[in-house]
Order: sequence, then C-alpha cells, then structure tokens
Amino acid sequence: MPPPRPQPSCLSDFFAYETPKSVVVKSWVVGAVNRAVQLLILSYFIGWVFLHEKAYQVRDTTLESSVVTKVKGVGRYGDRVLDTADYVTPPQGTSVFVVVTRQILTENQAQGVCPESEATYRCATDRDCRGKSLTTGSGVLTGRCVPYNDTLRTCEIRGWCPPEVDTVSVPVMLEAENFTLFIKNSVRFPLFGFEKANLPPQASAEELRRCRFHPERQPLCPILRLGDVARFAGQDFAALATTGGVLGIKIGWVCDLDRSWELCLPRYSFTRLDGVTRHSPSSPGYNFRHARYYRGHNGTELRTLTKAFGIRFDVLVYGNAGKFGIVPTLINTVAAFTSIGVGTVLCDIILLNFLKGAEHYKARKFEEVPEASVPPAPSSPTAGAPRAMGDQGREKQSTDSGTSSLGL
Ligand SMILES: *[C@@H]1O[C@H](CO)[C@@H](O)[C@H](O)[C@H]1NC(C)=O
Repeated sequence: MPPPRPQPSCLSDFFAYETPKSVVVKSWVVGAVNRAVQLLILSYFIGWVFLHEKAYQVRDTTLESSVVTKVKGVGRYGDRVLDTADYVTPPQGTSVFVVVTRQILTENQAQGVCPESEATYRCATDRDCRGKSLTTGSGVLTGRCVPYNDTLRTCEIRGWCPPEVDTVSVPVMLEAENFTLFIKNSVRFPLFGFEKANLPPQASAEELRRCRFHPERQPLCPILRLGDVARFAGQDFAALATTGGVLGIKIGWVCDLDRSWELCLPRYSFTRLDGVTRHSPSSPGYNFRHARYYRGHNGTELRTLTKAFGIRFDVLVYGNAGKFGIVPTLINTVAAFTSIGVGTVLCDIILLNFLKGAEHYKARKFEEVPEASVPPAPSSPTAGAPRAMGDQGREKQSTDSGTSSLGL
C-alpha cells in the first residue's frame, strides 16, 4: 500500500494562482512584427481614441435649447408695402417660420354656388358632372353643368365662391433678399450645468445691430441676411422665392468644457432641407393657404383666401459637450492595454505557419499530453478498478487551477 496522499482541499485549490507559461522566440522577424503591431495599436489609441475622439471625457448629448427669431425689412409687393407683420408667419418668432415672398389672393369669397375653375371639371352636359368624385378642390359638386365664361362650361360647386384660380402669374417680393434675421439662441448642457447664448458677450448693442453674419469675417454675428442664408445653402434666392422652399439654419455647439468658457462657440451651417422633393413635378417648392374673414355690407361672411409661396426657415440646434471623467479614462486605458495583446495573434500565425522551422516552434509551443485515463496505476494492484478511477479523479483535481475549481 502506498502512503496515503494528502487530500487537496477545495480551499487550497481556490487560493492557487495560475499563470500561463511563455515561450520566448528569438526570431528577429517575429519580434519586429510584434513590436510594429504593438506600436500601431498604441499610436491608434493615443492619437485617435484619446487625442482626437477625446475618449477620456464624459459626454453630454442632451442639449436644452431655446430659439427666438426676428425678421426685419420692408418690401414692395404689387401696389402695397409689406412689413414684418404681413410676410412673416407665425408671428411669434419661433424657430420655424415662413417669409412669404409670393401670394395669390382671391378676395371677397362667400358661401354659395358657382362654376368650378379647374380645367378638369370642364363639361358639356349635366351628365359629365355626375360620375366624378363628389368633392373638388374648391367645393362639393351640385351635379349641374353651368357656363364659366362666354366659351367655357364647367361643373357647378357649392362652397366658397368664386373659386381660386392659382395658375395666374403674380410677382415675387425679391426685396426679401435684403431682409435680416436675428437669431437669439441659448443652450444648456444639464449634465455639467453649463449655459451659454449665441450673442457675443463683449459686443456692444450698436456693434451687434450693425454686424452681418459671414462664415469667415463675422462667424459669431447673430444677424443674417436672408439672401446670404440661401447663398450659403447653395441656392438661388430668386428661384427659391418663386417656388418656395425650406432652408435649414443649423447651429452646432460642440464644446470641450475642459477648456475655457469663452471657447465654447456656436457654428452656423446652412442647407436646403427639401432638396429631395425640389424636382418632383407634382409638388415642387413650398406653399400653403390661409384666409382672413370679415363681414360684408349686408352682414354676409366674406373672406380673402391667400395661397402663399415662401421660404420656410428651420433653425436646428444640435451639440454635445465633453468634460474629463475618471470612468471613461479608466475603461479606455484598460481597453488600450488589452488591445496591445492582439499583436500576439498575428505573430503566432506567422511563427507557426510561415517561418522557417515552423515545425520546431510548434513542437515547443504545444506540449502533447496523453489522455489522463491511459496510464494504469501500477503501484496499487490490490485496488479495484473503481478505486483507481477515484484516485485518478482526485489526482486530476489536484493539478486543477483555482479557476477551474470554481466550475466544479
Ligand atoms: C439689396 O440691397 C443692395 C444694397 O443695398 C441693393 O443693391 C440691391 O438692389 C437690393 N436687392 C433687392 C432685390 O432689392
């Protein structure tokens, strides 16, 4: 009988430390590849991840912002002179507003019956007006065919009469090009309690009133000429004013709050937002209708219908701010050090497959061990097979690492 071996306890297994054995290969080629890959990974992390992407910062992407706008300028339209109250809608100075540049007016409309004005409702007899859909652009069909003018007959409708004719040509208020837009924008990054407005702090009221935005010369001036906004968005103002359109004024606040308060500055950029639908034949540009109501002499309700073409301005504010934080710094530092190990994968592939003497390296790197149950237990012939199995099991367990013991 062999002396009884000390039984390894679960506890000593748990407190064992396992560390991988290393094979040092004195090969100039693999060594150089290894160092080059490590250098590449290290410079990627330092240059791109840390310095460029500022991975050491906590980022706040929820930007609280308020926008107030004010348009100024006087334009001539037909025989009238229009001011802000006439051509800006809605008048509250919101971040989305329209400067109306062209209007088709249909005055003195009243409820009643009259011939439809659209060419598709041309008719010869009452029967032509029956099969069509019940409602038209301007009203409900009565089913009768009535004279529109001396030569033309159209279906009769019930609704606001006379109906609008929107195929007439009307002038464009090109003076809108010289109108100015004042944008007051204040932003807040709630995570850092950081607040700022787009007004230059040291500029006097007089300077502020006279300045006009320019991307290079006056990048911080909050007063923009409408013609410039169209030009910076790559659009022709006259064409835009004729068909209508949507322009985006983007104000970006991308701030590094590790630097001083003064260096967190807005950046303006301009784009046409409805560029995709611009060439669509069914609905190019932008227009909308609205009406003004009043009472006639005899008390009947009348209205003036306006089909307005205009440039809609959408002021869009976006941004994020970053500030040094210990948690992202630690996480990214650990990620950097772990990633340096990626080099060994590449080096192993080269070492074991493509290098001269690959077989030799392979033999030294991978130690072949026969299956555990193969060698019999020669020192205990009296013990039965199940006993031996048990011994073997215990032996295996004793060489186990602390980590695999956890799985037992
Ligand atoms: C806009 O202003 C400039 C300079 O004051 C003037 O030359 C130009 O004619 C104006 N544009 C329109 C469309 O009135």
